Amino acid sequence: MREFGRFGALLTGGVLAAMLTTTAVAKEDMSKWIRPQSVPAPKDNQITPERIELGKFLYFDTRLSRDGTVSCATCHNPELGWSDGVPKAIGIEGRQGPRNSPTVLNTAYQRHQFWDGRAKSLEEQALGPIQADVEMDMDLDKLVERLNGIKGYRELFEKAYPGEGITKDTIAKAIATFERTVVSTEAPFDRYAKGDESAIGDRAKRGFALFTGKGKCNNCHDGFNFTDGSFHNLGLGDADIGRYKLKKRASWFHAFKTPTLRDVTKTAPYFHDGSIKTLEEATAVCGNGGRFPNSKNLSPLIEDRKLTPEEIRLIVDFLKTLEGEPLNIEAPKTFPM
Ligand code: HEC
Ligand code: HEC
Repeated sequence: MREFGRFGALLTGGVLAAMLTTTAVAKEDMSKWIRPQSVPAPKDNQITPERIELGKFLYFDTRLSRDGTVSCATCHNPELGWSDGVPKAIGIEGRQGPRNSPTVLNTAYQRHQFWDGRAKSLEEQALGPIQADVEMDMDLDKLVERLNGIKGYRELFEKAYPGEGITKDTIAKAIATFERTVVSTEAPFDRYAKGDESAIGDRAKRGFALFTGKGKCNNCHDGFNFTDGSFHNLGLGDADIGRYKLKKRASWFHAFKTPTLRDVTKTAPYFHDGSIKTLEEATAVCGNGGRFPNSKNLSPLIEDRKLTPEEIRLIVDFLKTLEGEPLNIEAPKTFPM
């Protein structure tokens, strides 16, 4: 109400009423952009400090790969926005995978994991890369055996999951728990959403108005994590059929999960194939009709919004305000022996 204290005297009743209405609407609209206080976790894997500690060691430990050279952090590196900075992931023995490494940031809030959503939880996701031949290429039974041979890990697992031992299940659960601590910190945009008008500049405010207005970006990049958790075909024209591989549903043809835009400044190159280098380019493809507008089964939410180069720059100025302070998580200096 501070604004009204300052300007109230100058306003006629009608204008004041109109302003009150706008303020009320704006407030209601902004709440969905603010990060929830708590992080969801499954009932059978609640977050505890012991599980976080164990999961963190596992996440950064290269001994989880066949030849001891690759860890989760190789491709989801905290220094690189929890991604890897290359178009397509590079795993064991320099093998290149088919897709771009998405950030691990805020995956705790996602209903589906992977670009095509083939895993339903972080627990289910975690065992995939360990076994994938282009990532860590490790046999799970051998991994259980290897970790069982390390006294430090035996103790950590016992503390984190008393009586359960070192199993595929407890490995996945611990890693997932650590990932639930990799959540975005407050960004300038969050302070703005909570009412601090000075938190972001005028260009970013205009960019946000375009994001939710003319650009209709929030058709898909919606809510505090800037994703609807759904899958869309942007007509990129590459060979990857995306979610269609799971089930032959027309709308899933070449459809990929809407990625978060939190800390997106740190995670170039972009898109599932790493084919896009800048935020301007990404905004133009998403906003102005996809890469190939006549693609089969293009998402109906993708249209040519006719964003001008200046409007695209304004949107990018807004996207920059989604960058939070770096997370206070560092790779362990020593590992369990
Ligand atoms: C060689 C690089 C590489 C390694 C190593 C790797 N990942 Fe990934 N990660 C990827 C790629 C590429 C994808 C996307 C694959 C896809 O969608 O098909 C991915 C996807 C993910 C996702 C889903 C993110 C989302 O938004 O959908 C999570 C979570 C994740 N990885 C966690 C891990 C964990 C935990 C480990 C270690 C056990 C790990 N990754 C090891 C490259 C890697
Ligand atoms: C129809 C849904 C949809 C709309 C509307 C949309 N996007 Fe996207 N966006 C996506 C999907 C899906 C991807 C990933 C596509 C892929 O990799 O195949 C993406 C990727 C991005 C990326 C790259 C992020 C990354 O980590 O790879 C940025 C940046 C982005 N969009 C910004 C925008 C902006 C700005 C707008 C508005 C002008 C917008 N998007 C409109 C669905 C949408």
